[in-house]
Amino acid sequence: MNTDLHDDIPAQVEQILNETTKPLPESTIRAYLEGFVDRRLDFLSLVTEHGSPLYVFDEAALRERARTFHRAFERLLPRVSCYFAMKSNNHPLVSGTLLTENFGLDVSSGVELQAALAAGADKIIFSGPGKTLPELSLAVENAGRVTVLIDSFGELERLAELVRSRSTRIRAGVRITPPSSEWRKFGIPLYRLCQFWQRAGQLEFVNLCGLQFHTSWNHGPAAQIATIKAIGREIQPWPRSMRSQIEFLDIGGGFWPDQGEWLLNAATPKGRLLSILNGTDEQNRQRTFIAAEPIEVFAEQLARCLSEHILSTGACEICLEPGRWICNNAMHLLLTVVDKKEDDLVIVDAGINAVGWERFESDYVPLVNLSRPAIKEIPCQVLGSLCTPHDVWGQACWGENVLPGDVLLVPDQGAYTYSLRQEFIKSVPSVVSLEP
Ligand SMILES: Cc1ncc(COP(=O)(O)O)c(C=O)c1O
Repeated sequence: MNTDLHDDIPAQVEQILNETTKPLPESTIRAYLEGFVDRRLDFLSLVTEHGSPLYVFDEAALRERARTFHRAFERLLPRVSCYFAMKSNNHPLVSGTLLTENFGLDVSSGVELQAALAAGADKIIFSGPGKTLPELSLAVENAGRVTVLIDSFGELERLAELVRSRSTRIRAGVRITPPSSEWRKFGIPLYRLCQFWQRAGQLEFVNLCGLQFHTSWNHGPAAQIATIKAIGREIQPWPRSMRSQIEFLDIGGGFWPDQGEWLLNAATPKGRLLSILNGTDEQNRQRTFIAAEPIEVFAEQLARCLSEHILSTGACEICLEPGRWICNNAMHLLLTVVDKKEDDLVIVDAGINAVGWERFESDYVPLVNLSRPAIKEIPCQVLGSLCTPHDVWGQACWGENVLPGDVLLVPDQGAYTYSLRQEFIKSVPSVVSLEP
């Protein structure tokens, strides 16, 4: 037993309990809900026409986000390309709409690559660790439309062998592990970049011309800025002939939506600890708010940093791979109450297999009773119909009351829900479009 570790426990507990968290203000939730309540008849008519449960695709919201994102970066940087990270929402309507908004697609597997090709994308970046030979072959067969973001020295050799055997030239970049990252599985360490670049230079058919990194869950641009500065320091001493080969720098995605992160206290370290110490589920009912910077602030700070540390030594295109920020508001879920078992306990007609994970045990999403609208929250456990106690939609509902037959809205379920859906006990809800 490590006694040192045990000696530290009281201090660690105290540190966690002293963490300051910001409660999610009720006024923020109220303001957020008004827009949905105003559109309640549009949502209700979809259920009348198509049944329940349903995924609702909100094309207008998606287009608005895509344009806002583009605009924020385009006005500050000379050459910008946006690639939508398909993993965040893989419905063809989402990718298809974004293609018409001048987005390319960022794929992370052969399946996603096939879908991107079928959607007609001609600007595709393919990143991710452990690409298999069939996946790399598919990229090479479509070399005119795909840039491969190479993840390791081994992958460079496998790709080189493939393109050599087919005498096909492929455009490529290399993924760098952000120096601050604990995740070693993505990319190569920065100190080996020069060696990688020189090796690629010896391989006839691999046109290595870009760098990529990705940091996740950025509530502000600090992690991206730190990585850009580190890359700048690394390439600064390179000979000009080598630096000028860098045609693009892809700074990844991970932009947190400006609404901020809405969490149940039970999902924070302090909330988890209090749940254990108090033995109640009270922490499920309280909410924490983590603010996120508006996209314009990300754009301003990143553009300044890029100009100073990268573009000052040579022009290159800046690529971005946003997922969550773009599609978060592009889908909503509609559910219907089937059973009221207690005053404060109802069962709905969909299970969390529709979103693929136990999202609502950690994230707070206000449930809106569209059938009995009121900007008033009533405590009521809303549970799904799967045979698992983790099938939870929420601990409260916004409305006058909740009764069997009522239609509930789970707003803004566009990111990392639809693409994680699974056939488990219940089938997955179908997708219908909200009229603009
Ligand atoms: C390489 C890469 N790019 C982009 C994204 C999209 O991230 P987000 O949806 O947070 O913007 C991810 C997400 O995991 C990723 O791994």
